[in-house]
Amino acid sequence: MIRSVVRGFGASLPKRVMTNSEMEKKVDTSDEWIVQRTGIRQRYLAGEGETTASLGEAAARAALERAKLTPADIDLIILATSTPDNTFPATAVNIQNRLGMHHGAAFDVQAVCSGFIFAVTTADAYIRGGIAKRVLVIGAETFSRILDWNDRTTCVLFGDGAGAIVLEAQEGEGTTADRGVLTTQLRSDGAHKEKLYVDGGPSSTGTVGHLRMEGREVFKHAVGMITDVIEAAFEATGTTADDIDWLVPHQANRRIIDGSAKKLGIPPEKVVVTVDIHGNTSAASIPLALNAAASDGRIKQGDLVLLEAMGGGFTWGSVLLRW
Ligand code: ACO
Repeated sequence: MIRSVVRGFGASLPKRVMTNSEMEKKVDTSDEWIVQRTGIRQRYLAGEGETTASLGEAAARAALERAKLTPADIDLIILATSTPDNTFPATAVNIQNRLGMHHGAAFDVQAVCSGFIFAVTTADAYIRGGIAKRVLVIGAETFSRILDWNDRTTCVLFGDGAGAIVLEAQEGEGTTADRGVLTTQLRSDGAHKEKLYVDGGPSSTGTVGHLRMEGREVFKHAVGMITDVIEAAFEATGTTADDIDWLVPHQANRRIIDGSAKKLGIPPEKVVVTVDIHGNTSAASIPLALNAAASDGRIKQGDLVLLEAMGGGFTWGSVLLRW
C-alpha cells in the first residue's frame, strides 16, 4: 500500500516582530487582554518585498534541504493560502517559478485556517492515486495585508509566515504502524460564512477587502468541530487519544487549543503550541508548529502525530500521520 511519508519540513517568518505592547500603540487594547483571551504575545508581519510567495519559497527551500532533495525531484506543489500574491495566477505557480521548477504542476487550495489540512489531504490523494510521487505541501499567508488595522477585535489576532513539508510515496503494510498519512478527515459548511469572511473579492466588489469575524460565534463552534474530526480520525484507524504522541493544532487561540485537548483527553505536554510567538497565521500555522517541534527534536521518526484545524467557511479537518 502506498503511503505519503513526510520526508522534509521547513518554515520561514518575516523579519519584523510586532509585540503586544506595540499593538497597544496602534489600537485600544492591552497586552493583558490579548494574552488572557488568546495566549498571543507577539506576531511576525511581512514588510516591503515580503509576500506570500517569497515566504512560501523560503519555507519550501528549507523543506527541500532537510529532505536532501532539489526542485527537480518534486512533481507537484500544493499551496494552501487565502492571501495570494495575485488573484491569479495561483501563488503556487509563482513559487514553482521562484524555485526554478518548470516541470510538473502547481496549484493553490483555499480553505482559510484549515488550508494546510485540505492541502495535505489533496497531496495524499494524488500520491495514493499514483499521480504524484513527491509533493511539496506549503502553507503561506500574509494576513496582515487583509486586516482592518482599526478593528481591535481582529487585528491583534493574526500574523504572517509560511511552513512546508515534502510528502513522498513509500510502500507501507497498510497498518497504523506504517509511516505516513494514515487518515484524513475533511468537513465544510457554508452556512457559517458570515461569521468569518473577507468583505471583498474580484467578482463581488472588485476589491481585496478586509477580514471580518464574529469571534465569539467562531469560538462557540470551534471545540465541537475539532473534536468531531479527531474522533472520526480515531474511528477510521482504531486509535485512541492514548496512542497520540503529539497533537499539532491550528494555532488560533490558546483557549481553543486547551479546550479541545482537554475534551479529547490529550495531556498538555503532548500539545505543540506556537500561538504565543506566531499569532494566528491561518494556513501556515500547522506547518510552522510542525517545523518548531520537529526541529527541536520533540517530534521524532515513528511518532503518531495528529493535526487539526478549523476556520473560515466554516471548514475543519484532521490528519493523522506517523512521522
Ligand atoms: N482589546 C481589548 N478589548 C477588546 C479587544 C481587544 N483587542 N477586542 C475586543 N475587546 C473587547 C470587546 O469590545 C468586548 O467589550 P465589551 O464587553 O465592553 O463589549 C470584550 O472585549 C469582550 O469581547 P468578546 O468578543 O466577547 O471577547 P472573547 O472573550 O470572545 O474573545 C476572541 C475574543 C479572542 C476573538 C475570541 O472570541 C476568539 O478567539 N474567537 C475565535 C477566533 C478564532 O479562533 N478564529 C479561528 C479561525 S480564524 C480563520 O479561519 C481565519
